[in-house]
Amino acid sequence: MLEVEDLSVSYGAVQALRGVSFEARAGQVTAVLGANGAGKTTLLRAISGLVPVQRGTVRFGSRTLTGMAPESIVQCRVGHVPEGGSVITELTVEENLELGAAWRYRRRQRAEHIEEVYALFPPLKERAKQRASSLSGGERQMLAIGRAVVSHPELLLLDEPSLGLAPIVTANLMAVLVELTEREGITVVLVEQNARSALSIASWAIVINLGSVVVSDRAEIVAADSDLRHHYLGF
Ligand SMILES: Nc1ncnc2c1ncn2[C@@H]1O[C@H](COP(=O)(O)OP(=O)(O)O)[C@@H](O)[C@H]1O
Ligand SMILES: [Mg+2]
Repeated sequence: MLEVEDLSVSYGAVQALRGVSFEARAGQVTAVLGANGAGKTTLLRAISGLVPVQRGTVRFGSRTLTGMAPESIVQCRVGHVPEGGSVITELTVEENLELGAAWRYRRRQRAEHIEEVYALFPPLKERAKQRASSLSGGERQMLAIGRAVVSHPELLLLDEPSLGLAPIVTANLMAVLVELTEREGITVVLVEQNARSALSIASWAIVINLGSVVVSDRAEIVAADSDLRHHYLGF
């Protein structure tokens, strides 16, 4: 389980997070929703140790992540797929996945885990030898997620994976996230502007507004609240 307690982050004079607290349970998707500029990306970056935390703590399982270097947080099996995905366009699909697995697995095991990613995302297998630069937006996003999951993270942080994708591709991605949580029992924190898609697979949802948590409730309750949807979620 991920426990975030009273987390505050500022960029100079800009207070991006103000005392954010929430928990994300293992084997479930927790959605983090909110408008542009709400602080969602900052929250994921703070969990990964990519921005300094002013106050508060992040715990994952028995470990306190706050204050650890980003590379040590990765070693705690925290995978982070940043906004816009992250692939190395000059390398092939397979080389990207190799790199994602290399820090954790030996060659033979790597091949096995890459096959698992291909099973989750069949289009990647067809394009294994193609450069990542030749992929469509949806395939690139699959590869970015594949690069994170190939090392078997226990906590997966996803920053707007559906951005710019066709609805059918988004639906496929969401289905894969459900499969990962159910099969591997991983903890997923899903940041989305596409609140409808995120709520369709999440168990719990928090809504952030101007750096503060304004709602924290079961996803189905958030999805059923028309005032809330209208106010913060745009659907
Ligand atoms: N590197 C930065 N320097 C200064 N301000 C930033 C930086 N990154 C984000 N911000 C500000 O912090 C706030 C939260 O941004 P962000 O976490 O990116 O929100 P979201 O992901 O919800 O759109 C915004 O006001 C944004 O302008
Ligand atoms: Mg963002």
